[in-house]
Amino acid sequence: APAYGMIKTETQGRVAVITLNRPKALNALCSELFHEINDALARFDGDDAIGAVVLTGSERAFAAGADIKEMKDTQFIDNYKANFLGHWTAQISQMRKPIIAAVNGYALGGGCELAMMCDIIYAGEKAVFGQPEITLGVIPGAGGTQRLTHAVGKSKAMEMILTGTVNLTAAEALSSGLVSAVFPPDKLVDEAIKTAAKIAAKGAVSVQMAKEAINQAFELSLSSGLHFERRLFQSGFATKDQKEGMAAFAEKRKPNFTNE
Ligand code: CAA
Repeated sequence: APAYGMIKTETQGRVAVITLNRPKALNALCSELFHEINDALARFDGDDAIGAVVLTGSERAFAAGADIKEMKDTQFIDNYKANFLGHWTAQISQMRKPIIAAVNGYALGGGCELAMMCDIIYAGEKAVFGQPEITLGVIPGAGGTQRLTHAVGKSKAMEMILTGTVNLTAAEALSSGLVSAVFPPDKLVDEAIKTAAKIAAKGAVSVQMAKEAINQAFELSLSSGLHFERRLFQSGFATKDQKEGMAAFAEKRKPNFTNE
């Protein structure tokens, strides 16, 4: 593995864990940190030995947003030419393997947006989700106005983004559907790894097809989405994993998926 300065990576069986590690700035997302996240994600997406990824931060902060000090003096033309924030989100949005965000502490601005780019979010009991960009004179720039609205609905998204100070606690994030489970802070990452391991033990092709199909629910009309789903479902019958999975059921044994 490459030597990273702002993240740590490890693997546990078929699960890769990426831990944001810029504690002095509460994991504020600077270019270098994002470059490392993207590099690690690309490496794990291309590694057949990995079936799912967990992305986490520290107990105090998942990430406190884009690095305000780094961007404060940049100009429109710089940000336009560099595709600022677009270049951060490209890799994670093209990931074919599932990513679980394990969010302890602050997930603010770009931190909340980074969590929402993941496929599943688990929260620690003290997690805080918010989009404070408006207090800095700007708006969310990495998906906040879109993904938060899809997740929690228009009124709550408007309230959070327009005030910049109405945040969600872990319990509120759970009841609004932004996250799918809440755990004690010290159990959170293990729980995320457990779920990731469960997913990584399934056939990788069907897992990736399922992720692709669910994501189309945000892009397509119902009839087009159903069409897309049906074609993927039918093509699953070209895989060895389908033969194995159904044979194992009929023979009352555990399937042994080979990801083929
Ligand atoms: N950028 C740069 N540095 C940051 C940062 C950020 N987003 N968030 C925290 N830090 C730094 C602080 O400047 C501080 O550094 P120094 O010790 O050098 O002063 C260090 O991290 C610790 O932070 P605090 O002392 O502020 O810690 P706190 O516990 O008092 O407060 C906090 C925590 C409420 C999260 C507060 O740090 C804060 O409000 N951070 C900014 C949150 C924010 O506005 N995020 C949105 C950024 S814009 C964005 O993300 C755009 C987008 O759509 C992608």
